[in-house]
Amino acid sequence: MAYRLRRPSLGGNPHFDWRDSTRKLAVLLFVSWFYSSTMVKTILVSGSSGLIGSEVCVYFARGLGYTVHGVDNNQRAVFFGPQGDTRWNQRRLERDLKGFVHHEIDIRDRAGVLDLVKTVKPSVIVHTAAQPSHDRAAAIPFDDFDTNAVGTLNLLEAARQACPESPFVHMSTNKVYGDAPNSIALAELETRWDYADETYAHGIPETFTIDQSKHSLFGASKVAADVMVQEYGRYFNLPTCALRGGCLTGPNHTGVELHGFLSYLVKCNLEGREYKVFGYKGKQVRDNIHSLDVAPFMSAFVAAPRAGKSTILEAARPTARPFSKRSRSQKSLPVNLRSTPTWSSTAPAITSAITPICARCAPTTPSGPSPNHSRTRSGKSSRPGESDKRRTKYGRR
Ligand SMILES: NC(=O)c1ccc[n+]([C@@H]2O[C@H](COP(=O)([O-])OP(=O)(O)OC[C@H]3O[C@@H](n4cnc5c(N)ncnc54)[C@H](O)[C@@H]3O)[C@@H](O)[C@H]2O)c1
Repeated sequence: MAYRLRRPSLGGNPHFDWRDSTRKLAVLLFVSWFYSSTMVKTILVSGSSGLIGSEVCVYFARGLGYTVHGVDNNQRAVFFGPQGDTRWNQRRLERDLKGFVHHEIDIRDRAGVLDLVKTVKPSVIVHTAAQPSHDRAAAIPFDDFDTNAVGTLNLLEAARQACPESPFVHMSTNKVYGDAPNSIALAELETRWDYADETYAHGIPETFTIDQSKHSLFGASKVAADVMVQEYGRYFNLPTCALRGGCLTGPNHTGVELHGFLSYLVKCNLEGREYKVFGYKGKQVRDNIHSLDVAPFMSAFVAAPRAGKSTILEAARPTARPFSKRSRSQKSLPVNLRSTPTWSSTAPAITSAITPICARCAPTTPSGPSPNHSRTRSGKSSRPGESDKRRTKYGRR
């Protein structure tokens, strides 16, 4: 038996057919779903051949289906010499990532950056290109500031002009606090140093002072970038965030003595070269975050962006003293920010080779490494007890 629906009268309009309208709505919903699910999402990653940049490229391409545009001019080889050459990583991305586009652009090239962002109009920007070393910055102050501060400004302004809706994630550093964290008393544990003051059980908060401290030129240029990223969020309401990383590591770091210590340590180990340790009795002062954990953290911000956010990326510390509360960074972005195991529990030889300045111990003096304090891979300190004096040595990331 045919069942005929009665046409309801809607506002007395005799021409309204609700079946037609439902059909139209369904078509509209389907078209918008189809469009959004097939729309190409693009990400622009500066420093794409570096440790964090390359991890972000892989994560967003493979995990989230983004088309990736990488920007890198192998400046790391200029900063650190042939050992810092990142071309191998660029080639890896070009070979392994479908649709990956490499742009040989220097982020200091303002016109080039503005033009690129205008052309690509990325749906996300992740900015990781930097001069990343304290010690190097003192020798190349213009290159350092132009790359870290001005390069960041170039990218921010390009984003504001071309794609102000696109989340902008900047890799900042905990070195924005300068040596201020050195005022916090440390407790010497069996294999590592930790804060003596429970107030800092979960690390220092984002509200910790960046003022009245010595930063090194590198720290100062990163402060400029960090504050500018926050300002583009607060002043222009762009969805920006600055992640203040501590010590980041991963298999794709082109480690050199002045930056990427864990990668460099492994390299020294494999090649049978001496690795120098400076101070702290060779005990661990840093926790490391794997680059694999940084990329999903960024994608969590991209999924729920806010304007002008500044967040500390700090590793959870399974081997440190047992504290019950979760870390601030975990609270502020609900992602699984697990750390790689701290090496103190698994590899004492490596622990003894960790350099002195950490998430909590920033630089105070520009003195260079002294061979008197060197320690070989055997872990024998040439001057035990010297460590506290060496707390002021510039750190190597
Ligand atoms: N690695 C760490 O432990 C650590 C810790 C805290 C913060 N950070 C920050 O995270 C970011 C990424 O660090 P990383 O370890 O991946 O560094 P990285 O040196 O491995 O990667 C940076 C990349 O940027 C490129 N680059 C540098 N200057 C450039 C320029 N002017 N134009 C274009 N490309 C340029 C380099 O060639 C390199 O491939 C940096 O901002 C760094 O300060 C790193």
